[in-house]
Amino acid sequence: MNTRITIANLLAAKREGRKIAAISCYDYSTARLVSQTDVQMIIVGDSAAQVVLGFDSTLPATMDFMVAITAAVRRGAPNVFLVADMPFLSYQISRAEALRNAGRFMTEAGAQMVKIEATSAHLDVIKAVSDAGIAVMAHIGIRPQSISKTGRFKAEATTAEMAAELLSLAEQMIAAGAGSLLIEGIAAEVSEIVTSRCEVPVIGIGSGPGCDGQVLIAPDILGLTQGPCPKFAKSYDNMAKRTVEAFDTYALEVGKQQYPDAEHSYHMKTGEFERLQELLKGKL
Ligand code: KIV
Repeated sequence: MNTRITIANLLAAKREGRKIAAISCYDYSTARLVSQTDVQMIIVGDSAAQVVLGFDSTLPATMDFMVAITAAVRRGAPNVFLVADMPFLSYQISRAEALRNAGRFMTEAGAQMVKIEATSAHLDVIKAVSDAGIAVMAHIGIRPQSISKTGRFKAEATTAEMAAELLSLAEQMIAAGAGSLLIEGIAAEVSEIVTSRCEVPVIGIGSGPGCDGQVLIAPDILGLTQGPCPKFAKSYDNMAKRTVEAFDTYALEVGKQQYPDAEHSYHMKTGEFERLQELLKGKL
């Protein structure tokens, strides 16, 4: 597929009931592979702080880091709809900073939409960014950037009151200008209602099958994540095992001097080794 997927394509998918597959990934090489598949959307998530940098939360992701990896993903996947995740403190301080930072993702990284973890306190930011002509995905439900307030992640909208609140929040986000919603950790029954009531594409993570689309992080899909995974994460391979085996085989071959062999080495042009020996005669 050579043409770039746009928001119009995603809206058409929603209208026609075609599900959208999205992947969160963080680098050029993985994005190149994603671009060869039917995955329509890449979200460069601030989960990169954990997956790529090894932090225990998403909070340490900085704007410069996120812009650099988003641009790398765009280079790898020119055809895929690209969403950039606004990191912690890139939009909470002022609307001016939110606009400047959202703009950087568009001008420096080639993103088509920015994602903002939002509560009703951020409606003015969603509106300001959207009014500036930048498409916004409002991320509601579990919001990993608020871990210091919640202490842990647990499913949202599991009671009627919580569900009604979430539905109202979703509607407010769209009224403020959100062009898409990402709903994380929402009870499946409620996701279905949000999705049917909202005219914008609703992407779910851990929110059941009723959303317009799903997103998973690439390392979970590939089985590269070692350690505990959330209930909703599904692995389609065990690349951690295969990667460790490949690294081990390499180390073994180096130890046994089987690597590099002649095939994987550069060689002098024909006759040049003999000439070199002549040149070095008596000099060694
Ligand atoms: O950081 C992340 O990877 C996310 C996903 C839910 C897309 O926010």
